[in-house]
Amino acid sequence: MTARTTTLALLALISTAAATAADISFRTFQEDDLPTLFQWTQASHVAPWWWSHADTYEKFVDEFSPSAQAKECQYPYMVFVDGEPVGYIHYYCADKLCKECWEKYGKPGAGTVGMDLVIGDASLTRRGLGTRIVDAFVTKIFSETDATRIIADPTPANTAAIRCFAKAGFARVEEIDASSCVKTTGKIVLMARSR
Ligand SMILES: CC(C)(COP(=O)(O)OP(=O)(O)OC[C@H]1O[C@@H](n2cnc3c(N)ncnc32)[C@H](O)[C@@H]1OP(=O)(O)O)[C@@H](O)C(=O)NCCC(=O)NCCS
Repeated sequence: MTARTTTLALLALISTAAATAADISFRTFQEDDLPTLFQWTQASHVAPWWWSHADTYEKFVDEFSPSAQAKECQYPYMVFVDGEPVGYIHYYCADKLCKECWEKYGKPGAGTVGMDLVIGDASLTRRGLGTRIVDAFVTKIFSETDATRIIADPTPANTAAIRCFAKAGFARVEEIDASSCVKTTGKIVLMARSR
């Protein structure tokens, strides 16, 4: 099957009334997935919101290889719909990253994790897929870990992410000045969903 045929088949699946039953699954991110993720991060609907500043593939690999992410207490996955890769998602120990930000939120403990996601192909966005992926990932985190709260930190201008997380049950907590945080620039909208 060509990439175009695959995308069309996915579009048909995602767009049908049966879309809620679309088979969303997650597989632990592997070294082999790095080129695909790097390519997705260059897409125009992703690049403005991508949270890494790695400007070369080598730096990207240094930051996103499975071993590097494990050292940062970050758990990455590829996202599949009907067996086809459509995106990337991860969760991380919130108190291990971006400490300046989370301290303002009251030093979340080990029970709090953060999450981020990317849908790689723009033609698959705005069809409800992001909301279903977030919801399925939340279910996975709550069933496989002791986490009691999941937070997201989209930038205020990222309407798609804010609406996507809101539709997946995340409540807006507050806007935080994150300019001192290396992982983000400017302000973030802190959002949270509890168990
Ligand atoms: C954020 C993202 C995962 C959302 O995925 P998606 O499949 O488009 O989300 P959904 O289709 O479930 O849409 C959820 C809501 O967001 C809205 N939305 C989606 N894209 C939008 C856009 N570009 N502008 C405005 N609203 C948008 C949808 O309309 C929907 O709200 P509605 O039902 O009230 O109209 C996807 O846009 C993406 O991968 N973006 C790039 C990476 C990124 O920003 N990640 C988040 C980092 S925190």
